[in-house]
Amino acid sequence: MPNTILVGAQWGDEGKGKIIDVLTERADLVVRCQGGNNAGHTVFVNGKPHVLHLIPSGILRQSTVSVIGNGVVLDPVGLMAEIQGLNERGVTVDGRLWISDLAHLVLPYHRVLDALKENQMGDRKIGTTRRGIGPAYGDKVARVGLRLLDLLKWDRFTEKYRALAEERNTLFVQNDLEPVDIDRSLDELAAARDFLRPHVRNTALFLDEAIRSGKSLLFEGAQGTFLDIDHGTYPYVTSSNTTSGGAMTGAGVSPTCIDSVVGVIKAYTTRVGEGPFPTEQSFLADHFHGMGREFGATTGRKRRCGWLDTVMTRHAAMINGIDQLAVTNLDGLDTMDTVRLCTAYRLGDREIGFYPTDIDELAVCEPVYRDFKGWKTDTSGIRRLEDLPAEARTYLDAIAEYTGARVSWLSIGPAREQTIEIPMH
Ligand code: IMO
Ligand code: MG
Repeated sequence: MPNTILVGAQWGDEGKGKIIDVLTERADLVVRCQGGNNAGHTVFVNGKPHVLHLIPSGILRQSTVSVIGNGVVLDPVGLMAEIQGLNERGVTVDGRLWISDLAHLVLPYHRVLDALKENQMGDRKIGTTRRGIGPAYGDKVARVGLRLLDLLKWDRFTEKYRALAEERNTLFVQNDLEPVDIDRSLDELAAARDFLRPHVRNTALFLDEAIRSGKSLLFEGAQGTFLDIDHGTYPYVTSSNTTSGGAMTGAGVSPTCIDSVVGVIKAYTTRVGEGPFPTEQSFLADHFHGMGREFGATTGRKRRCGWLDTVMTRHAAMINGIDQLAVTNLDGLDTMDTVRLCTAYRLGDREIGFYPTDIDELAVCEPVYRDFKGWKTDTSGIRRLEDLPAEARTYLDAIAEYTGARVSWLSIGPAREQTIEIPMH
């Protein structure tokens, strides 16, 4: 398999974990490049769900090497717990999980800062995962962040950590919040340091060597295009570049090594957290929640739901250079009489086919829909494209046409087998 970047082309939760797991069969290395444990990537193996937050979803195939790149913000204590959780399920990571020494750390005060900010914003809150992601990236950009390589130099680390934690504890106490217990957190961090040390290395060098020796790399995006700090619905976004460019800076590899960009989309749209969502439909949320679907893998929150929006997916294809799509959760629409696809927006008296940059404009956009006859067939057991109802194929063809990328994978359930690969003719 060539070197591939996989990105979410909506607001996250597109089913990236499942598609990564399917593609990993043909990859030598899987690399996470941005985000942190705000991600929740669910992979079903032998009927059992595994939710991965920081570790690449490729870890579940024993032959694959996983890399956490420099662009990820990692909570060392959380990462240790995630590795231990995998060990308990019989998945070992020794010699096949490498973590960049340049990755910035998410520390206990970042989580408190995240909560403080959200509480202070009241109605204007972002609806973050409260994992401390924004404050950790904030420290990185403000050049006061601490990295994994700092954690390994203990004396230097404790000095800087104490100073930052004390300064922030003053703020927490002023706001009636529990201050960080500095000594206790240092004990936990020391345990995580010892646990993670054998996995830490210069991953840019390691990846360069892998590329030169012809290994095939799969870059696993977290979140989605419209949560991107630059291209998303700012300020209702996450704090990293979730688009294909972010994979390059976040791993320290060159764009010239990339052969394909896969965009993952649901056959409809979901969003968790606040912010505009033109095709949102409360009846669809009730429908999916009634089926026991569309609850967040990280926070358990109910996801907001709506029709598939190809103004968005077309924009995502442009920004990321998506040449192939993986469409997931098609089976979620199996019982619909009519399936709607948003093809343009009406903004005032104009019809527009592009995604407006100003979210106040986006918020008043009315979707223009094309309606498709529902297929009213259980697709979850279908294994060949030819067996898919004609109505479903028509819908998929329209998704490809309006998005401007071919559909290469179709997912009709969480299991590996519930995937249809659509070969090029
Ligand atoms: P995966 O990788 C869906 C959302 C949060 C919130 C906003 C900012 O599983 O697709 P943050 O905690 O990052 O500062 O929150 O981003 N968000 C996600 N939504 N899937 C995710 O990850 C998300 N990670 C963050 O809900 O709206
Ligand atoms: Mg998720």
